Amino acid sequence: MKTLDLSNDLGALTQRPAWRDAIDRWWDAWLTSSAMYRWSVANPFTRWVTQRRARQVFDLMAGFVYSQVLLACVRLQILERVAQSPRSLQELALMCQVSPHALQRLLQSAVALRLLEWRGPDRYGLGALGAPVAGHPGLRAMIEHHAALYHDMHDPVALLRDQMPQSEMAAYWPYAQDAHQDGVRSWQDDKVARYSELMAASQPFVIDEVLAAYNFDAHQQVLDVGGGKGGFVRRLAQHASHLRLHLFDLPQVAAMAQQQIDQNGMGQRIQTHGGDFLRDPLPGGADLVTLIRIAHDHPDGDVRTLLKAIHQALPVGGTLLLAEPMAQAPGQQPLGDAYFHFYLLAMGSGRLRTPNELSQMMAEAGFTHIEEVPNAVPLQTQILVGRKAQCLP
Ligand SMILES: C[S@@+](CC[C@H](N)C(=O)[O-])C[C@H]1O[C@@H](n2cnc3c(N)ncnc32)[C@H](O)[C@@H]1O
Repeated sequence: MKTLDLSNDLGALTQRPAWRDAIDRWWDAWLTSSAMYRWSVANPFTRWVTQRRARQVFDLMAGFVYSQVLLACVRLQILERVAQSPRSLQELALMCQVSPHALQRLLQSAVALRLLEWRGPDRYGLGALGAPVAGHPGLRAMIEHHAALYHDMHDPVALLRDQMPQSEMAAYWPYAQDAHQDGVRSWQDDKVARYSELMAASQPFVIDEVLAAYNFDAHQQVLDVGGGKGGFVRRLAQHASHLRLHLFDLPQVAAMAQQQIDQNGMGQRIQTHGGDFLRDPLPGGADLVTLIRIAHDHPDGDVRTLLKAIHQALPVGGTLLLAEPMAQAPGQQPLGDAYFHFYLLAMGSGRLRTPNELSQMMAEAGFTHIEEVPNAVPLQTQILVGRKAQCLP
């Protein structure tokens, strides 16, 4: 696996003066001393900082347990049950087939995490953080499939040393392992159907971001590469009625997308194409190619191959829109970095790249005028666009 190339993103840090290191050393020593802790807690002006930091460290330590509380609530459908109407402990115990004695621990933990809230002395209702989970099946599907990630992360050092004998995440995503094997098209259909279903359930968040951030008016034909079951092209067909649309994905997935398109009576507007984007040519004709949540799943060499293939498939003046979660450069506010770095490590393929790294790869493939398109919630996805100014020799 390739190490992260942060050379460009680290530029600002390389000019750090030596006196800053000396100050930092003094500051680190002060922050870690018990004298500082006692002084800070005793001082009414600094107490809140120490209290807040203690809380944050506690949350870091307990985070894995918090995730399990969330997973248990999802598996037992507690959030959906209380969304229908507030329920008592006895009612929920009966519904979940868990003893009241044990379930009470889960419910109180969920109250502490604001997944639930008290609605009377013995009534639980939906909490502020439980509401989005109860309202989005895609979010629940993501949480449920995290069981595989939690399994792989039970020994994070073994994972880092590549000593995890059976990675469940790797098994979940067949294309991450078998991209270069001849049997690429013979992956078990049930595995392909399972990850495609998960992607379809979680894609609406990303689709909303892309449709709100980018103006499609100037385009005529769009090709969504790795388009899954077609959620994006179907939404785009409704969003921009002048567009003709194409979807390219592995043959099994393209067939599932076709089924969805036919069921929605969109066969006239959207064409599907089955193939392997690392080996087969992409269909031509589109003046915009979209690549949504694809590059981060693949190693650098494959991303370069794919970007070149897209460049080749586009006409001069055509555009590539790439949307996926991205790493934050040092000094920027980190978003989902810790999560995505480990998710992709457990999956065994790809890596989280900064906008800068992806822009460089796009430029190497021949794209110019590369820019970031700001979007409202850059946690799940950020957006880059680049143009094909000329054909490469
Ligand atoms: C993470 S999913 C993203 C799907 C969709 N774009 C979304 O955002 O929900 C990656 C997609 O790339 C497809 N894919 C992976 N490797 C591929 C390959 N070599 N050729 C064609 N499609 C591939 C997968 O089948 C899957 O649908």
